[in-house]
Amino acid sequence: LDYRGTTALVTGASSGLGRELSSRLAGRGADLVLVARRADRLEELAAELRTRTRATVTVLPYDLATPRPGAALAAMLRERDITLGTLVNNAGFGSHGALADADSDRVAAEVQVNVASLVDLTRTFLPELVATGRGALVNVASTASYQATPGMAVYGATKAFVRSFTEALWYETRGTGLRTLALSPGPVPTEFFDVLGAEEAKIGQV
Ligand SMILES: NC(=O)c1ccc[n+]([C@@H]2O[C@H](COP(=O)([O-])OP(=O)(O)OC[C@H]3O[C@@H](n4cnc5c(N)ncnc54)[C@H](OP(=O)(O)O)[C@@H]3O)[C@@H](O)[C@H]2O)c1
Repeated sequence: LDYRGTTALVTGASSGLGRELSSRLAGRGADLVLVARRADRLEELAAELRTRTRATVTVLPYDLATPRPGAALAAMLRERDITLGTLVNNAGFGSHGALADADSDRVAAEVQVNVASLVDLTRTFLPELVATGRGALVNVASTASYQATPGMAVYGATKAFVRSFTEALWYETRGTGLRTLALSPGPVPTEFFDVLGAEEAKIGQV
């Protein structure tokens, strides 16, 4: 796949899968827009990618737990004259334990980041992705999307949403040139499990 001459926005690019996906896209010729909260991490990745590839890399630190991020990010891209061909909605996190004991703010943020912001970014940028017609819409789900996940009830449900939503969009975007896919990884050793904060959920123990 040749991404030369197109720009890809990757959320959650400061770590783990998002960092790796950004690196692979730059390796295939894409210019990049990197989004996450930790600006220092994004700047470090941007510097590495600029050195290793010919990519133009833009860093946009942003908290996707904020409702309706699409308009704000679209305005920042307009200011920079950037049109997207690819959107990778990768940012996400999980929490562990019975819902009755969960912190309500964390639950709300989990739904906002994993679901509501993903939908809002997709709605905002889908017209230009389709117009570019050479890129991809990649929404990161999980193998947790395929069954209920007691102890991670909200997380599994958010990922089931992402997979269902994305499969429907695959149908809606057939024939446009846009490649629409849900990515459902199994366990990958990233910071995900540190953020999750549950020893027993670590890889090899689930
Ligand atoms: N690792 C696995 O086993 C696994 C398996 C299946 C699916 N997944 C999914 O893969 C995706 C990436 O996870 P990962 O494993 O790479 O975990 P990770 O290393 O913890 O990376 C998560 C990324 O999401 C970003 N993020 C979290 N909250 C955010 C917020 N409020 N605003 C903006 N960005 C935010 C983080 O950036 P900042 O902290 O800098 O904001 C970070 O870049 C997630 O959607 C996860 O659910 C992971």
